[in-house]
Amino acid sequence: MLRNKWCTELGASDIGSRCTLAGWVFRRRDHGGLIFVDLRDRSGIVQVAFSPDVSGEVHARAHDLRAEFVISVEGEVRKRPAGTENPGLRTGMVELYADTLTVFNEAETLPFPMEEAAEAAESLRLKYRYLDLRRPELQHNLIVRHKVTKVVRDCLDEQGFLEIETPMLTKSTPEGARDYLVPSRLNQGHFYALPQSPQLFKQILMVSGLEKYFQIVKCFRDEDLRADRQPEFTQVDIEMSFVGREDILTLVEALLKRLFLGVLNKDIQVPFPRLSFTESMERFGNDKPDMRFGMELKDMADLASKGSFKVFLDALASGGRVKAINGRGMAGLSRKEIDMLTEEAQSFGAKGLAWIKVRNGFDSPIAKFFPEEVLRGMALRLDAAEGDLMLFVADKEKVVHDVLSRMRLELGKRLKLIREEFNFVWIVDFPLLEWDEDEKRFVAIHHPFTSPVDEDISRLSPAIGDDRELLASLRAKAYDIVLNGYEIGGGSIRIHRRDVQKRIFELLGIADEDAQIKFGFLLDALDYGAPPHGGIALGLDRLVMLMVGAHSIRDVIAFPKTQKAVCPMSGAPSTVEPKQLKELFIKTVS
Ligand code: AMO
Ligand code: AMP
Repeated sequence: MLRNKWCTELGASDIGSRCTLAGWVFRRRDHGGLIFVDLRDRSGIVQVAFSPDVSGEVHARAHDLRAEFVISVEGEVRKRPAGTENPGLRTGMVELYADTLTVFNEAETLPFPMEEAAEAAESLRLKYRYLDLRRPELQHNLIVRHKVTKVVRDCLDEQGFLEIETPMLTKSTPEGARDYLVPSRLNQGHFYALPQSPQLFKQILMVSGLEKYFQIVKCFRDEDLRADRQPEFTQVDIEMSFVGREDILTLVEALLKRLFLGVLNKDIQVPFPRLSFTESMERFGNDKPDMRFGMELKDMADLASKGSFKVFLDALASGGRVKAINGRGMAGLSRKEIDMLTEEAQSFGAKGLAWIKVRNGFDSPIAKFFPEEVLRGMALRLDAAEGDLMLFVADKEKVVHDVLSRMRLELGKRLKLIREEFNFVWIVDFPLLEWDEDEKRFVAIHHPFTSPVDEDISRLSPAIGDDRELLASLRAKAYDIVLNGYEIGGGSIRIHRRDVQKRIFELLGIADEDAQIKFGFLLDALDYGAPPHGGIALGLDRLVMLMVGAHSIRDVIAFPKTQKAVCPMSGAPSTVEPKQLKELFIKTVS
């Protein structure tokens, strides 16, 4: 090795001994006679001193060191003189007096100074990701990620799970996003799809009798990207045979408990609370509620119908909803500020935002439409007191929930209501299907292999194809796990009988032929002794993001892509040689 210690290993016990360190020049300070260099390696920083009294030649060469030069130094470890210790540094009691200096490599002036890298534009940071990744914060994130995968592997191994790889060049899988396609050279006009998840393969592994499978696996989805979505991301994918929902939930709770204890030394409480999908939508407006604060959505329909405000009455008359939240202490907002809130609600899809200040009575342009006792009823339901601001949205249910759930999060942040904690919740009792307005057909909420609850299987008679109310009422054996408002995992008990699977495909409007082409291998496998089985996939990137307190999964992925799915460092995606396209029988048109 070109070193015999990590920088931050130097301590009191090394005083008087010789050490060799290697790393990057973080800072250099010239104090006339003495030159100080903060030397950085993966472990952190230690101060190296160059003195003409120790070596004139080495001291002279140290003048030329610049930020990010790669060096090694050898010398004696000394206690820092009294008054020059740096308590902010783990190694702040000591310094190394170098009598030997090797410069392995010089460095150009950086496109952004290391110390200000966190503030540099993200596009620049991603282009020079190798420099960005020298930042201790990002290195810490990758270290945590490594520890998480190690604990996952240890924990599942101890419980008899086998890690089994599944193909990357495969057929389209049904997670509902667009596929990434790979043309086949040997099969003209044919394409592989990169897996959106190993869903079909892990079910096949259950049919094969492997019983307990897991895999830490890359998945690929061509969808619109956000802070918590990347085109390629990693799942902790799990599947088990002969289990019911409780087995999977208990397994995941134990796994997460061990992860948080092992990696963050945080003892989280299990079992996690559970919320039905319907309750989550009613109280929080979405199925990934951030339950670290209140400000829940309240139904105002009965009270709204006792007034004469046309916006509310019209919404209710056309089957919509009127719901509200309480902006605690916000009655002081000016008209202009309320207009801005309204614009925000409109940017989330609302037609408007009705408001009532609780201030010297009820202060609002719409107060006149309601009898006093109705206004008091509204305040009571929202737990609104003097100084609060009641905010209403009236619209179709989906819009009301969308807008109010987003306003709730926004105001929760602004009013600093969000507690610093890890708040887990299971969302259970999902509907099986939902109506897709664009496609004019029902689609699976999870995926088409999710089992209906037992009572509903008997309701899947051939006659229900057009009964929209009945179809919408079918419930699934599906569950999601949510942490601090992020869906960090989802899974289900699967269908293991071909007749049930076939019936679900029919209800989803997937023709027999189509089902056979797309998922024939799974359907066939179900004919040959498929055990009852189920599983879950955790989103590793999101989980690690929340564990380290990052705001984007890009901060926990070594080489992430931008919003436009581009890697600014490597330049992917790129054009290719015409010859390559020809071999693949592909012509591009613009
Ligand atoms: P699902 O589609 O819910 O389930 O995915 C599981 C988890 O993966 C994470 N995730 C993502 N993370 C980052 N970027 C993305 N684009 C992205 N998409 C999903 C989420 C999500 O909860 N086969 C099923 C699992 C099963 O049924 O066992 C599946 O893939 O945290
Ligand atoms: P109007 O008189 O229709 O312009 O609206 C009166 C108030 O109701 C304004 O504060 C609007 O922002 C609000 N408003 C309009 N449409 C809705 C709606 N669908 N839901 C809630 N408030 C609304």
